[in-house]
Amino acid sequence: MRIDIVTIFPEMFSAFLRTGVLGRAVGAGILNVQVHDLRDYAGNPHRSVDDEPYGGGGGMVMTAPPWIAAIRALSRDGSPRRILMTPQGRRLDNDKVIELAQRAHIVLLCGRYEGIDERVRETVVDEEVSIGDYVLSGGEVPSMVLIESVSRELPGVVGLPQSVEQDSFRDGLLDYPHYTRPRVVEGLAVPDVLRSGHHGDIDEWRRRRALEITLEKRPDLLEGRPRSPRAGGRACGDPLEEK
Ligand code: 6GU
Repeated sequence: MRIDIVTIFPEMFSAFLRTGVLGRAVGAGILNVQVHDLRDYAGNPHRSVDDEPYGGGGGMVMTAPPWIAAIRALSRDGSPRRILMTPQGRRLDNDKVIELAQRAHIVLLCGRYEGIDERVRETVVDEEVSIGDYVLSGGEVPSMVLIESVSRELPGVVGLPQSVEQDSFRDGLLDYPHYTRPRVVEGLAVPDVLRSGHHGDIDEWRRRRALEITLEKRPDLLEGRPRSPRAGGRACGDPLEEK
C-alpha cells in the first residue's frame, strides 16, 4: 500500500515512521509512505501557503493553489483516494479503517485548523475524516492515527495474525484482561483458569470476560448482537506455569 502525506510539518513524521510495528512495515516494503512539504508547491519565493480571509475576521486561511498543485502531482500515476483530515469529517472507526486498508493508494491532506480555502475540498478531496469530537491544531496527529490503524490491517504487519483478531473491536468486543509473571501482585493473584493449561476453559473465560467488560464499559457495542456459541478445547501444558 502507498500513502502520501501533504503537510507543512513533514518533520513530525520522521520518528513516527521509523518506530515499532509501523517502522518494520515500512522497512519491509509492505507500506510505502512518502511525506511531502506543502511549501514545495507554494509557487512563490517566500514559500507562503496562507493568506488573510476574504470577509475579514481573525486567523489565516491556507491558500488553494499549493494544495491543488501537490495533490495533482501525487495523482499523476493512478487515482488515489484523497482524504482531508478535518474535525468536520466522518469519524474514523474500525469499519472505515478496514475499508481504507483495501485501497492501493491514499493521499492524506493535513490541514491546519484555522482553515483551508473551500476550493480545495471542491477540487481535490474525495472524503473528509475526523478522529473524534475535539479540536486539534492540525491534521498531522490524526493522520498518524489513521496510518497506524490502517497499517495494522495489512497482511504481514502485525507479527502473529491471531493477535490482530483478538484485539479490541476486531470481533466487536473489547479485549479480555492480560496477565504475566509474577503470579501475585499486591496480593492480587492471576485467575487459576489461566494456569490450568486447559485451552478450552481459557478461551471460554476470555470470551466471557471480554463480554462482561464490553457490557460494563461500552454497552453500545453490544446492541443488536446475537448470543454467541461457547468455546470448546483441550488441556495441555502452559508455557508460563511456575515449576
Ligand atoms: Cl482530522 N483535524 C483536526 N485539526 N482536529 C481534529 C481532527 C482532525 N479530528 C479530531 N479533531
